[in-house]
Amino acid sequence: MSITAVAYPNIALIKYWGKRDETFNLPATGSLSMTLDVAPTRTTVTLAPGADDDVATWRGEAMSGDDLTRVRSFLDLVRELAGSRVRAVVETANEIPTGAGLASSASGFAALAAAASGAYGLDLTERDLSRLARRGSGSAARSVFGALVQWHAGRDDASSYAEPLPASALELALVVAVLSPGRKPVGSREAMRRTAATSPFFPAWVASVPTELEAMRRAIADADFGAVGELAEANALRMHATMLGAVPPVRYWNADTVAALDLVAQLRTDGLSAYATMDAGPNVKVLCRPQDAGAVAERFTAAFEDVNLLIAGPGPGVRIEGTR
Ligand code: PMV
Repeated sequence: MSITAVAYPNIALIKYWGKRDETFNLPATGSLSMTLDVAPTRTTVTLAPGADDDVATWRGEAMSGDDLTRVRSFLDLVRELAGSRVRAVVETANEIPTGAGLASSASGFAALAAAASGAYGLDLTERDLSRLARRGSGSAARSVFGALVQWHAGRDDASSYAEPLPASALELALVVAVLSPGRKPVGSREAMRRTAATSPFFPAWVASVPTELEAMRRAIADADFGAVGELAEANALRMHATMLGAVPPVRYWNADTVAALDLVAQLRTDGLSAYATMDAGPNVKVLCRPQDAGAVAERFTAAFEDVNLLIAGPGPGVRIEGTR
């Protein structure tokens, strides 16, 4: 049995930063994101009866170390649910630089959850698929669904899942400016752990997110682009402020990050409605209206010599592409 699934990355407008429980990946707060229509991850899981262990490849190359361990632990979860001991071959490929704060783990574990649960014969609801994807990487819970999605913090494994927001007239584009494609020095798992354990700002972050989530939901329902952008930019900066307060500090920013944030501020001064957001990496993503995305991208191309740009709109949830 072989199943191929495709999932897209998502970018949070209200971020997930910090866990309440590491075993189940229960978040300290809820979060809210947009699933993108670029840079999908495509993953095939093939059952391998008789094989001694799971094998995984990324773009045809054997995975090893922590990456392989994470895939195997995830398959163990799926096997436990399915009551199976059969090993699997996992083939995966994605089109964005992994580990640069571009949410490749979100599309990766959403695709793996869908392909593996299918290959092992689990017939999961979308909600249960979201709960399963969460175990691989928290943000993956949101990539199960398309467009605008909220992940409810929940109280336990059963109640912590994502679901799509009600349809809204809001039109959003996201310009992803990749200035530093390298792998980040500290992974989000360790960075969250350190922030939650040592940053004096973390309790303030946890206390403020629910209010921000409510305000974001309202701004989306009202299709108020300016309010969405202001809330998203402020939330991303607050997330980074909590990390800067950790011991030792977690700083993903570099000189290009600051220059990109300056450019976004300049775009607003010039009359373009654009707002910045950032994840666990140095790259800056710009929220704008779809009709302004080309102009935003041009300004980045003019300002930075080595910038790779992706223009994204709202994308679909995870889907099964093929069964053999
Ligand atoms: O899902 P993880 O463990 O890779 O964490 C993602 C964290 C952020 O991208 C920084 C924020 C978010 O909500 O996606």
